[in-house]
Amino acid sequence: MNAETKLCCLIGNPVAHSLSPMIHNTLAQKMGIDLAYLAFRVETESVEAAVAGAKALGILGMNVTVPHKSTVMRSLVQTDPMAERIGAVNTLVSVPGGYKGYNTDIIGLRRQLKEEQIVIDGRDVIILGAGGASRAITWLCADLGARRIYLLNRSVENARKLSEAVNRFYGERVVPMALTDYRDIPKGTYPVIQTTSVGLYPHIEEAAILEEEFYGYVETGVDIIFNPAETKFMRLCREHGARAFNGLKMLLYQGIAAFELWNGVEVPKQYAQELLLRMEGELHTNG
Ligand code: ATR
Repeated sequence: MNAETKLCCLIGNPVAHSLSPMIHNTLAQKMGIDLAYLAFRVETESVEAAVAGAKALGILGMNVTVPHKSTVMRSLVQTDPMAERIGAVNTLVSVPGGYKGYNTDIIGLRRQLKEEQIVIDGRDVIILGAGGASRAITWLCADLGARRIYLLNRSVENARKLSEAVNRFYGERVVPMALTDYRDIPKGTYPVIQTTSVGLYPHIEEAAILEEEFYGYVETGVDIIFNPAETKFMRLCREHGARAFNGLKMLLYQGIAAFELWNGVEVPKQYAQELLLRMEGELHTNG
């Protein structure tokens, strides 16, 4: 590093176990870009000051993680239309006068779905969960042309709120349901995206739906959780003959999309593959 080194950073709370510094510092090194990436724990009441301070210091770009993905939007001078609709941003790019916000979580999932050949266009899909992560994913599935989205959540009220927001834009597509009502879904197999926090380490034997019968509806399961590498949800999918993927690629690709926005470059596929292996290694070491 020297006086010319550009800086990007992550703000969130907590940030201590984030893989983003490793992703971006490795990418900068591989791509020969003079950039450093740090993580800052920021309290909610300091988000506005953090963004203003970052601009004053000439920080090139920022990632924003929980719990600030919506709060930070007030401090932006521009927001990408899709991120605006979703109501959450995770990437800020320096523009004249401030920062522009993007949601690269959905770019990450879009790339992962394409790579695993999981087709959403014209299909019916099932989404488990209606929290912050589900919000972006439900919008993405509607945008990708899902015919019907069965949105299953513990609280039907939360599923209803999200459904109404998406349906207002895309027409009657999202059907809010309780997790326990999955038998009301027409018989068949579907792409299923698991967006709840259930099953996250150390609660590795838990899943939002444990009933075996549900897994008869799964054609391909995608869990946004990546620690553990194989969640209970994924294991149940596989035991019922379905393919299953964790959320590591989504995390990697949201990072790559942010890196590309900040630096105006395209990260070669080979680097993505190498990084994925390194991320798997880091998770393994961290338990
Ligand atoms: P995130 O931003 O990671 O999505 P969140 O906004 O807190 O986190 O949302 C968590 C999701 O996990 C919600 O869909 C939540 O369901 P509720 O809306 O009913 O709270 C779901 N969730 C959390 N704990 C759960 C549990 N034990 N069983 C089923 N769903 C659960």
